[in-house]
Amino acid sequence: MSDLTDLLRRRIALEGPITIADYMTDALGHPEFGYYFRQDPFGVKGDFVTAPEISQMFGELIGLWCAATWQQIGNPTPFKLVELGPGRGTLMADALRAGRGIPGFLDAADINLVETSPTLQARQRETLAAHKVTWHAGFDSLPDGPAIFLANEFFDALPIHQLVRRDGVWHERMISQSGDSFTFVLEKSQSKLAGLLAPHLNDAPDNSIAEISPASIAVANGIGRHIHDFGGAALFIDYGYRVSHPGDTLQAVRQHAFVDVLDTPGSADITAHVDFSAMARTVDGIAAVHGPVDQGAWLKRLGIVHRRDALTKSADDTQSRDIESAYHRLTDENEMGSLFKVMALTQHGCPAPAGFEDDH
Ligand SMILES: C[S@@+](CC[C@H](N)C(=O)[O-])C[C@H]1O[C@@H](n2cnc3c(N)ncnc32)[C@H](O)[C@@H]1O
Repeated sequence: MSDLTDLLRRRIALEGPITIADYMTDALGHPEFGYYFRQDPFGVKGDFVTAPEISQMFGELIGLWCAATWQQIGNPTPFKLVELGPGRGTLMADALRAGRGIPGFLDAADINLVETSPTLQARQRETLAAHKVTWHAGFDSLPDGPAIFLANEFFDALPIHQLVRRDGVWHERMISQSGDSFTFVLEKSQSKLAGLLAPHLNDAPDNSIAEISPASIAVANGIGRHIHDFGGAALFIDYGYRVSHPGDTLQAVRQHAFVDVLDTPGSADITAHVDFSAMARTVDGIAAVHGPVDQGAWLKRLGIVHRRDALTKSADDTQSRDIESAYHRLTDENEMGSLFKVMALTQHGCPAPAGFEDDH
């Protein structure tokens, strides 16, 4: 039994069943036993691999996207370049290297990272040692001013609630314990969160599960308001869906394999698919929403094929094979190409940013 298992069991014994959001919050973010606080989970030897860790092409294209977007919003100098949940800092390092080619961009960028985990902050400090960086434990302490926000696989780590439809009423799915195990139970009364669901979900058949992430909605809303008040843009990349629909997407991954979400909290990464339409709804009227578009199509519009070919020119055979395989992993439909989506926010009146030109 992990220390966190023990702690959660005592909490449930005292308070009764807890929400999935409470469970996720502790499993990922408990300051002593939380998953992201205990280790660096990335890479082949870790639990999962993210796009920036697959290839430098990903972060480089995002760096060029930031520079082009910065020019579209009128080269504000200085501006905040903010990344939420930066992992090992790889995306930001690649983005800054690519952004060097755009006159004035790097000098204007005031780099801010939002990261709760001291373990990962230390890792980011190493990766970004050549740059001046300010860290924030939360979104609220970010300074005012024009900003470009980046979030890759950040929203999927924010807590969700699950509601189950029974006889036309949504009840919250909670976590209790039975013997030595955690178990799902249903709250008897109607969930107050039901009002936050997209209205068409009320047509879902009995026993459907709907997911809602007030934490994600709050962050997206905060970013939208920041862009509205000070100017700027945001880029959200994550696995998820375009339109809210019923389904259970809660999952736990340990050493590159799916495991039981309720098994040994704190020892596996727990995520849920991101509902892009819920985030778009919350910024409606505050900022302009672009996309979401599939990651594969978006990277191709940004010129990943040219970047792949340029890298391959100076590569040996093994490196060329790695570059080709990374290209396919990032863009193929049966890999990350269509499961992962890209959505942008901009201040109103700004032209569609790169890669979103044909999306309205
Ligand atoms: C799946 S990782 C993604 C890392 C990185 N963006 C990448 O693509 O490699 C999630 C990141 O979000 C951070 N994180 C999770 N919850 C957070 C929160 N509530 N506030 C700030 N950072 C958080 C984690 O510590 C980690 O850096």
